Amino acid sequence: MSQKLIIANWKMNPQTQKEADKIFSGILLSVKNIKNTSVVVCPPSLFIGNLKKNNKILIGAQNVSGFSDGAYTGEISAKMLKDKNITYSIVGHSESRASGDSNELINKKINLLLKNKLNIVLCIGEKERDHNGFYLSFIKKQLHECLAGISKSQIKNIVIAYEPIWAIGVDALREADVSEFIEMSIFIKKIIGDMYDVKTAHDIGILYGGSVHPENAESFLIEGRASGLLVGRDSLNAKKFSKILICADKIK
Ligand code: 13P
Repeated sequence: MSQKLIIANWKMNPQTQKEADKIFSGILLSVKNIKNTSVVVCPPSLFIGNLKKNNKILIGAQNVSGFSDGAYTGEISAKMLKDKNITYSIVGHSESRASGDSNELINKKINLLLKNKLNIVLCIGEKERDHNGFYLSFIKKQLHECLAGISKSQIKNIVIAYEPIWAIGVDALREADVSEFIEMSIFIKKIIGDMYDVKTAHDIGILYGGSVHPENAESFLIEGRASGLLVGRDSLNAKKFSKILICADKIK
């Protein structure tokens, strides 16, 4: 990945279309001068399709159904996302995993997204770091099971977002250290290398997410060599999110 990929995950915010339009317009203003960065906003699905059409910001979904169609109350299919010109979907976010998404279900979602030619942001991350390194086998299992049966050519449409659960949201212990992110990127690449090959491991994009803000974005992108960032709270503040975008855009 040459361009940095900066993704806004609005989660279940804001509460009205009016507020969503306001944040989106704020972000839109700042992306006018953004040249080297891909910007994706993942709003709540009700707002998808209502945000101002433009050619600077891609719209993503926060999740997708593991079924193609039928009697699944409350679900949205990959084909529906495609029909709304959605280009990305997050899968495996820890908040979706907490409400029941297993690695097996995430694998089904990935297959449906691939079938509908959408790009995928696969979130992985441990709940806690233990001294025995069990968290590493946890990450390995997530990758193995979520990517089971996905071919080398299909993985080109997938980026991995490392989001340690302990670093997410208002209750976060802290953000990850850049060194922790680097260590994890190497580990993820090693697993991808073993599952596919060295080139695939080299090429795969790895994003960092978890309490990203304008002050720490640069260190993850420059020192941590992250392919991009997945931003929660600070993506709801157009000024803060714009600062993150400007910072990403300066990086060659
Ligand atoms: P915060 O940036 O609010 O910690 O959320 C991170 C996240 O979960 C993005 O997907």
